[in-house]
Amino acid sequence: MNFTEKILVLDFGSQYTQLIARRVREQKVYSEILPYNVSIDRIKEFAPKGIILSGGPSSVYDKSAPLPDKEIFNLGIPILGICYGMQLMSHMLGGKVAKSAKREYGRAELRIDDDSDILKGIKKRSAVSGQRSEEEKLVTVVWMSHGDKIVKQPKGFTPIAHTNNSPVAAMADKSRKFYALQFHPEVAHTENGTKILRNFVFNVCKCKPKWTMQSFIETTTKDIKEKVGKYRVVCAISGGVDSAVTAVLINRAIGKQLTCIFVDNGVLREGEALKVENMLKKHFRMNMICVDASKRFLKKLKGVTDPEKKRKIIGNEFIHIFQEEAKKIKGAEYLAQGTLYPDVIESTSFKGPSAIIKSHHNVGGLLKDMKLKLVEPLRELFKDEVRVLGRELGMPDEIISRHPFPGPGLAIRIIDEVTQQRADILRKADAIVLEEIKNAGLYNEIWQAFAVLLPIKTVGVMGDERTYENVIAVRAVKSVDGMTADWARLPYDVLGIISNRIINEVKGINRVVFDISSKPPSTIEWE
Ligand code: XMP
Repeated sequence: MNFTEKILVLDFGSQYTQLIARRVREQKVYSEILPYNVSIDRIKEFAPKGIILSGGPSSVYDKSAPLPDKEIFNLGIPILGICYGMQLMSHMLGGKVAKSAKREYGRAELRIDDDSDILKGIKKRSAVSGQRSEEEKLVTVVWMSHGDKIVKQPKGFTPIAHTNNSPVAAMADKSRKFYALQFHPEVAHTENGTKILRNFVFNVCKCKPKWTMQSFIETTTKDIKEKVGKYRVVCAISGGVDSAVTAVLINRAIGKQLTCIFVDNGVLREGEALKVENMLKKHFRMNMICVDASKRFLKKLKGVTDPEKKRKIIGNEFIHIFQEEAKKIKGAEYLAQGTLYPDVIESTSFKGPSAIIKSHHNVGGLLKDMKLKLVEPLRELFKDEVRVLGRELGMPDEIISRHPFPGPGLAIRIIDEVTQQRADILRKADAIVLEEIKNAGLYNEIWQAFAVLLPIKTVGVMGDERTYENVIAVRAVKSVDGMTADWARLPYDVLGIISNRIINEVKGINRVVFDISSKPPSTIEWE
């Protein structure tokens, strides 16, 4: 990415590394994360205006302690070390780090000894714990998480803040513009954390706030044009946010050189195919191929009840159909994918591919025999930035803020075998759940809401007749990232309307239940 105002974050394995980059970007300054052991040449090529060394789980005295190239301290670029980043600065620049007698974890009161620079403008408040002088009672609350501490700062550094447990909780070498913090300014619990990061980015590194979505669109469309040249790009559209935004952005850059392929696998939500088609084809005037392959998918799914088998069948069939269609497009050289920044970091960071990477990438495995090169214009963005980008590109909110939907679709919400009839029943019930949650104004507070069709028949009574029909389970969860989730406390009235409508309007259902399990130990999907 061709920005001049950039901050580089070197990753030493902290759970907060991504947060540091996000906080910097929130200040409209572009920030990227690279593994701690990236070469000095790569750093020079990236040309940051400042470097932040993240925290990490290691101790600098561990045999395998991750350390950066020492040359970073000779680049003449400001450096901010956070937690482990501070300790390694101390260790590598001649200070002394030792085990704390007491691990310091959580809230701590920071007493500022020099607020002339990076700690400038911090609002202080009265200390809870008693200290003698009035001045000493003024503190700010910070978030700590460390077992080692600085016992002697390196030459050139002076301590600028302390806590009860850390005599050097922050230190500075103003002439070299090196700063180090024992606490985490990037987490929300650190009261003035944003202010401190702003001080580093703007006052120390002299960055200008130029990173906006508009500037991202301009630079990226230029990059795509240059990369793709006269060739064609194909893009698989799943109905989700990422692939739709990818397509709209590439369309902005190369227009008719892009062809989108949308495959209806027969287990999509109600009206989904039409919604996506209307937006991309009619609103954005894109080349779009819509393939109704529902019969083909349902045939393959016949008799299959195992959830993992369903996933594999749908994934493989999708790849086959996509390839068949893509091969028909003359001059196709590139495949567009909606890879996001967290996926990129997960696979390049020194920790290696993390366990949380999802195995269900819809177009994974395509490239081997198709030999398409990749275009991944979102690979520098976080999920919420993709939503901002989509809005900026004029995409309707209905597409941008929709709940996540699994690649295998309704197939993993039909417990037991998937049939056309069952898919139709579930589609109708699911549409009612979503409609009523939207009517109640709750859609945006919920991570995912949907219906599940259970393979159980129960007795009911309708009019004067006894019925013996299936059960629908309603699932609604709140979550931040889908990794953990709590069941959403939907109001009884809303649940009542959902239940009434499903039983009255969906033939084949005579009972509705509400799922009140959290993840863990349950999962969001039932299969
Ligand atoms: P679970 O059920 O594992 O789901 O708690 C976590 C999130 O992942 C989605 N999910 C999938 N997405 N293909 C996908 O594209 C899949 O096979 C799949 N399985 C689960 C799920 O909807 C939730 O958002």
